[in-house]
Amino acid sequence: MKIAIGADHAGYRLKEELVPFIQSLGHEIEDFGCNCDQSVDYPDYALPVCDKVSEGQADRGILICGTGIGMSIAANKVPGIRCALVHDMFSAKATREHNDTNVLAMGERVIGPGIAQEIIRIWLETPFSNGERHVGRVGKVMQLESKYASHP
Ligand code: RB5
Repeated sequence: MKIAIGADHAGYRLKEELVPFIQSLGHEIEDFGCNCDQSVDYPDYALPVCDKVSEGQADRGILICGTGIGMSIAANKVPGIRCALVHDMFSAKATREHNDTNVLAMGERVIGPGIAQEIIRIWLETPFSNGERHVGRVGKVMQLESKYASHP
């Protein structure tokens, strides 16, 4: 798969560790930074990653900040994005099966590289369940975008 990845200053070290791991799984990476610990704003790094996924130019996105929370909030503002904040292996599997998430957010200040790698491996290899109830629920979530699209 083609994976777009981005981080802020509080997540870039974990990102740097995860990029070669993701490549070793056979995936292609497009890295949108940042690349140092100089303070930046997480929405500026969430947006290009989510745009790539939303436009179909990347299959999935991975975002890392200090907590993962800011990245996940920003990501879920982008049409077409279903982002999950995940810090455990159970949720990594469940959010693919139930929510068909296309962006994964994690916090460098919350988990270490070993757990992050396992989360990514599970999240990338788990298919959407395609069960009728999950398809219907995800569809209802996506309809919220059109409901609020005309709001100022
Ligand atoms: C940066 O200090 C921190 O606020 C950011 O990385 C993230 O955790 C926000 O949600």
